[in-house]
Amino acid sequence: MKIVGVMLIAASALFALSGEAVFEKKCASCHSEYYIPQSRLLVNYRHNNKDLNLTAPTVTELSFRIKDQVGDRTLDAEGQKFEIEEWLTRFLKEPKAFKTILPKDVRKAYGQMPPVLASEEEIEALADFLYEYAETMMVKHGVKRYSYDEARKIAQKEGKIILIEGYLPYCRGCIWMDRNVMVEPEVKAALNSDFVLVRKNLLIEKLPLGIKRLGTPSFYFITGDGKKVIDMVEGTGTKAEFLELLSQMKAKAHKE
Ligand code: HEC
Repeated sequence: MKIVGVMLIAASALFALSGEAVFEKKCASCHSEYYIPQSRLLVNYRHNNKDLNLTAPTVTELSFRIKDQVGDRTLDAEGQKFEIEEWLTRFLKEPKAFKTILPKDVRKAYGQMPPVLASEEEIEALADFLYEYAETMMVKHGVKRYSYDEARKIAQKEGKIILIEGYLPYCRGCIWMDRNVMVEPEVKAALNSDFVLVRKNLLIEKLPLGIKRLGTPSFYFITGDGKKVIDMVEGTGTKAEFLELLSQMKAKAHKE
């Protein structure tokens, strides 16, 4: 009997729908762009969508907005995904009956989304895909992150500063920084040239050197040998402010 159980699980995993494939089939004819840097998008919306002429919001926009606005974002991933699935089931039947989850300037650039038919299974796969995409986007377009041990080795060898980004999964400021600042080309260049990035979920992970955590998001700068805290700061900032912080930390590290 046990063998049959295992086979059943294997078969259902084999036939589980890929959310991305469903999205490609049912949604991508309009939502054709997956990722456009936020700095370009903001200018586009200021120009009333005349630069990029998008047919519908990007997948990145949908994913970040859904994670922030749909269901309870303080639940664990499975809990919130379940609520997103329920919402999508109702939403896809009659999009116009719903209060928009998009920011005003984004929503006003578009007409009305029509109803889209999708099965229960397809919607489950879509909910999963849309929930996960924000993180997929960060991995794909952000700076590579390392474990703390890996970061120490690299920082030591290459004379770089260790930067730990402390976050909580449901922290709005963290999500904002990820999307608006950490993936911007100038920020990536500055991080890649002088820093080694570590990301820690402060709900479940401890900081090294007995550092007491600040609120989130927070940034902990540590010397390349892993022995000393250069400085630590809490809060969000614009791209320019974050670049300024990085350059101050570089100057400070050289003085140590
Ligand atoms: C025929 C074009 C078209 C298709 C197909 C389409 N969308 Fe959209 N969608 C739009 C447009 C245009 C908007 C922006 C206007 C709006 O929000 O209604 C939008 C907005 C959205 C929003 C945000 C709605 C809000 O304002 O809160 C979600 C979520 C969404 N789409 C999901 C999907 C999913 C999932 C699919 C596939 C199952 C899909 N869309 C298929 C055109 C489309």
